[in-house]
Amino acid sequence: GFTPRVFSGIQPSGGLTLGNYLGAIKRFVDMQDQGIETVYCMVDLHAITVWQDPEALRRQTRELAAGYIASGLDPEKSILFNQSQISAHAELGWIFNCVARMGWMQRMTQWKDKAGKNSQNASLGLFAYPSLMAADILLYHATHVPVGEDQKQHVELTRDIAAKFNHDYGVDFFPMPEPVIEGAATRVMSLRDGSKKMSKSDPSDASRINMTDDADAIAQKIRKAKTDPEALPSEVDGLEGRPEARNLVNIYAALSGQSVDQVLAEVGGQQFSAFKPKLSDLAVEKLSPISGEMARLMQAPDEIDAILRKGADRARAIAQPIMDRTLEIVGM
Ligand code: ADP
Ligand code: NA
Repeated sequence: GFTPRVFSGIQPSGGLTLGNYLGAIKRFVDMQDQGIETVYCMVDLHAITVWQDPEALRRQTRELAAGYIASGLDPEKSILFNQSQISAHAELGWIFNCVARMGWMQRMTQWKDKAGKNSQNASLGLFAYPSLMAADILLYHATHVPVGEDQKQHVELTRDIAAKFNHDYGVDFFPMPEPVIEGAATRVMSLRDGSKKMSKSDPSDASRINMTDDADAIAQKIRKAKTDPEALPSEVDGLEGRPEARNLVNIYAALSGQSVDQVLAEVGGQQFSAFKPKLSDLAVEKLSPISGEMARLMQAPDEIDAILRKGADRARAIAQPIMDRTLEIVGM
């Protein structure tokens, strides 16, 4: 058996969104506070699978660290670090490139979405992204991976890579990590299009709530969020075929810590004109302390860098023996 250990990461490829917060960071904090060992990374090697301006990448990495800490991740309780500071991520990623099959990568829906029709012009790194993600997780022998729904397929692929490695080399070395996808907001959708997930890489700023948005911006984006003309239903069945309504109710539930049933029992029968201001008030109440703390931390980049350096030392102490043993198993 493997000792329970949690690993997850977020790309510093832009500002954090409410989707990242509800689908990932808030859940990272829950797991930290359950007393399991938790390791959380800023995956900058993943971010450069699409072009990143170097200065922007540096700033976004610090901002992501500030977002982690401001949301309640405690550098004493969780290991917080930046992926590129530990070269074993890239090293194990290469070994897994030689374990994973082309066909596995081609089936990844995120690859198909991100590369689009012009896949011949996508970077080789974007194609290999899931194999580096498998390395991130397995380098720590992690057993649990809190993620949003969009990452489920990648965690399943991580299990396939672990199983093939163990089988090919006749060892029982890597664990089979479980995706942990829970809560009311495992897939927060765009505010402008209920069929697309909310993402930091969406060109439309109105499609997302950024963790750094002020109260006016949050209120304005929610007021303009796409909805339908019906009143809110009092039961979940009534959200069927209404993705935009469902999305706003899910966000409300996740922010308030209620179930969707509880929220609908309270707001069923109301028009969006009444519900949206409530949702804005709740979002501002929950997010403004975080954005305030992020802004304060961003004034102290040295403090952030020192936290990440310490985190990297602790992460390396776990990762290096696992990397050394992997090389030995492979014959190196
Ligand atoms: P993005 O898609 O915003 O660039 P990442 O790919 O860095 O975000 O994902 C970081 C984490 O945030 C992952 O666990 C991912 O599943 C989660 N996540 C991203 N967008 C959403 C969303 N819209 N709803 C729920 N979780 C999300
Ligand atoms: Na993503």
